[in-house]
Amino acid sequence: MSPTNRGRFITFEGIDGAGKTTHIEAVAEALRQRGHHLLLTREPGGTPLAERLRELFLHEPMDALTEALLVFAGRRDHLLTRIEPALAAGTTVLCDRFTDATFAYQGAGRGFDLDVLSTLERWVQQGRQPDLTLWFDLPPEVAARRRAASRGQADRLEREEQAFFERVRAGYAARHAACAARVVRIDADHTVDEVAAQVRQALTRFLERADA
Ligand code: TMP
Repeated sequence: MSPTNRGRFITFEGIDGAGKTTHIEAVAEALRQRGHHLLLTREPGGTPLAERLRELFLHEPMDALTEALLVFAGRRDHLLTRIEPALAAGTTVLCDRFTDATFAYQGAGRGFDLDVLSTLERWVQQGRQPDLTLWFDLPPEVAARRRAASRGQADRLEREEQAFFERVRAGYAARHAACAARVVRIDADHTVDEVAAQVRQALTRFLERADA
């Protein structure tokens, strides 16, 4: 398959309130204008089964291993039934969160064993990784103010204290450091327009490399 018709897998990450969702539609529009067919999806969720698991995940009390098993179970179904078929058909997949969130939230946030997460990642993904990850990085106190201003009822994760989100942010920073070619840091502590400009620049660079 030529580089231009191979599907790209792009993920969006960050702590709750980092503002990533606002920018996914702009990325989608930019890619549509370049002729990409798109699948917009999210995790936890993205299939009927995984959306049911998402509801349990967000609202039922559980330990960190159960959290990890639920998100990886949903991810397996999502990969098999939606993401892999889309990529194989040359569709570009935009996914609001993926496995970096598991390393950040369950690994760094909850302190769960990173080796176990890596094993689950290998079983579930069989080597599949995003081609590009945009990490919207924001201080937790700023994210908390944005959440308070814009959201309704907070879910189980959003009700966590600031120290949890400090750890999650550090978890994302560790993923960024470990996978610098894939994970691009977007400084989200700016206006929407300024953040959008960073996103456009990251996307342009990625596409230049990917289509070369
Ligand atoms: P969302 O509100 O961005 O859709 O994400 C739902 C929550 O799930 C968010 O707080 C991050 C959390 N999450 C995990 O804890 N582990 C994961 O693997 C994923 C994908 C999300």
